[in-house]
Amino acid sequence: MSNGATSADRQRAPARGPAPPCTLVIFGATGDLTRRLLVPALYNLSRWGLLPDDFRILAIGRQDTSAARLRTEFETAFSKFVADKTGEFTAENIDKAAWERVVGRLVYKRGDATDASFLKSIGGELEGNALFYLAVAAKLFGPIVDVLGKCGLVDERGGRWRRVVIEKPFGNDLRSAKALNEEVLRVLREDQIFRIDHFLGKETVQNIMAFRFGNGFFEPMWNRDRIDHVQITVAETVGVGTRGSFYDGTGALRDMVPNHLFQLLTMIAMEPPTSFAPDAVRDRKQDVLNAVNSFDADIERCVVRAQYGAGIVNDKVVANYRDEPKVNPSSSTETYVAMRLEIDNWRWAGVPFYLRTGKSMSERDTEIAIRFKDPPLSLFRDTSARDAMIANWLILQIQPDEGISLQFGAKLPGPDVKVDCVTMGFLYSDYFATEPATGYETLIYDAMIGDLTLFQRADNIEEGWRVVEPLLEAFGANELPMATYPAGSRGPAEADELLERDGRSWRPLG
Ligand code: BG6
Repeated sequence: MSNGATSADRQRAPARGPAPPCTLVIFGATGDLTRRLLVPALYNLSRWGLLPDDFRILAIGRQDTSAARLRTEFETAFSKFVADKTGEFTAENIDKAAWERVVGRLVYKRGDATDASFLKSIGGELEGNALFYLAVAAKLFGPIVDVLGKCGLVDERGGRWRRVVIEKPFGNDLRSAKALNEEVLRVLREDQIFRIDHFLGKETVQNIMAFRFGNGFFEPMWNRDRIDHVQITVAETVGVGTRGSFYDGTGALRDMVPNHLFQLLTMIAMEPPTSFAPDAVRDRKQDVLNAVNSFDADIERCVVRAQYGAGIVNDKVVANYRDEPKVNPSSSTETYVAMRLEIDNWRWAGVPFYLRTGKSMSERDTEIAIRFKDPPLSLFRDTSARDAMIANWLILQIQPDEGISLQFGAKLPGPDVKVDCVTMGFLYSDYFATEPATGYETLIYDAMIGDLTLFQRADNIEEGWRVVEPLLEAFGANELPMATYPAGSRGPAEADELLERDGRSWRPLG
């Protein structure tokens, strides 16, 4: 497919130029997130000419290591990603100069980030702008911000800026999210806080707004008059892997729904914002969550939770969830959740949104599928097209195989009036030279230039938790049956029944 321009013509939109000078202070610099996602993302920013000229990383961790050793570790990890064709990062050749701009001026400080005397001691290293990145366990977010405040490290005197990036999970229920917001807002202004949801770093997620509001086709039918229902799927083939102790205390609902799935939900359901200004966008997303029903009644009919049993995923044997390392053998933590919710506003009232997400499933598949209402088929009454299932779907494929497709009915060639489903598709890879990226590039760059559009505001986070709160309570009290599904399957039968009760069915995965 082509409209004349080659993919090379469309590699990247012109950038806004290098970010202003700053030091990136990474708390948790020896951890997995830094090695696997942040450093490769910084490398890309460097390659694209978006890092400031005098960029510097101040790496902070508890380990007894040195800047030289850390640099070597980053380099080894990075070379491994580059070699691993199944990983998220597979640049073909490492650009040595770009790499050097990232790690060339790296400084390592060993210490406890919640210890005021330690943080005071690093204060001397920090002049001018600083971006503090909290790549640490969630229980440390509040204490670190508190001490940053006490040591004066987030004061913006003399024209310098000071910002803090806070990773997920932001709280683990409404109460704790509110408490954490209060804690950080005692020290920082809202516009100094960059609460990350890495789904917003994905190009295909960012494209939802461009697709909806930058085109004239779809918006007129983007409502309850034309849309029958919406399915949002985030299916993963990965299991809990080495994250058993974190995951078993978290579960699929907390891990994926109020954050990642609700980002997809709000992008697809929001009203057009008046601009890309952070609050213009975040206000409209907030409106969606405000209008989501609260599940108070009939949770059992609207929600399914399940755990995977032993099975085979991608030809590999997967253990029963309860036998995974660091998982409680009698765990009642869900690895799958499906739900039906409604958005009670003028655009969406009466249109069900079905959401599902699970680990160890048959396919990796993140998509939003919009099912349009059936047309009246009386015209076809006396033809063999009458019985055909002509389903009009618009599918936004977020990952893998990023693209957008439209499914509709077309007449089969021949004298008989027979209709079959056909698909019209757009694949990103046909049009754009997609470069290997972690998804953190845009987020880090935006934090450096102070653009909050792709970050969650305090009320956005709290509203996400507000919606799932009744489910957390019901799950916690074991009020809902725990279904099971074999690893490598498309999920539990109970999730199929959730849609069958409404006369609908899930789209196949993959
Ligand atoms: C993380 C969750 O936030 O998102 C993980 O904690 C999940 O459990 C991951 O696997 C999914 O992100 P991606 O980018 O791999 O789809």
